[in-house]
Amino acid sequence: MKLFIDDAHLDAIKRLLAVYPIDGVTTNPSILAKVGGNPVEVLHAIRAAIGNDRLLFVQAVPTDAEGMLRDARAIVRAFGKNTVVKIPSIPAGFQAIRALRDEGIHTCGTVVYTPLQAYLAAKAGADYVAPYVNRIDNMGYDGVAVVKEIQDILTKNDLLAEVLAASFKNSQQVLTLCAYGIGSATAAPAVIDAFVKNPAIDAAVADFVRDFAQVGHGKSMADLLV
Ligand code: E4P
Repeated sequence: MKLFIDDAHLDAIKRLLAVYPIDGVTTNPSILAKVGGNPVEVLHAIRAAIGNDRLLFVQAVPTDAEGMLRDARAIVRAFGKNTVVKIPSIPAGFQAIRALRDEGIHTCGTVVYTPLQAYLAAKAGADYVAPYVNRIDNMGYDGVAVVKEIQDILTKNDLLAEVLAASFKNSQQVLTLCAYGIGSATAAPAVIDAFVKNPAIDAAVADFVRDFAQVGHGKSMADLLV
């Protein structure tokens, strides 16, 4: 499963990139609004931080197909070939996804709340479909189950789009979908940090350090091996 950071704060992105095996960054208009400032400058700074090989997801803002196409072309021109344009999975979006596929521009059908939205976005030619786990939960449905159903629909219909599960509130949701075999997940920094936030892990590491101090007298292996 590929893992993306669902955030646009540069400090958080740099911190996570330094320690975790991260495949890129996903953004949306609300995420950019939370950072403030000029969204183009923010996105250029993110591209510089993640390098040209990682994926950057940027959402088209208009809600009509022509506007989505204009945004998509401009986004890829500005942020490079490893940029995926997020297109809302609405009728105009399916139209735009189809046209962008023909132009060789990679897309993600986003704002996915239902399996049939994902089916249509994938069939239109989206490279990714992004179901919103936590938002679906908040509507009284089971977000994880919806994502599993979408994965099954894509597999059974030989649709090539990859699931990019989004809108997570906890690491358990990510774990369940990782075990199910979805292609990608994007999560906020706090959710990614929680993958390894566990008192048992911290206690085990502390035990190793304390035990070795008895024989190493506070030195590391490198110190002892000189
Ligand atoms: C990603 O594609 C979505 O835009 C994002 O994960 C939504 O997350 P939220 O429900 O926390 O706003």
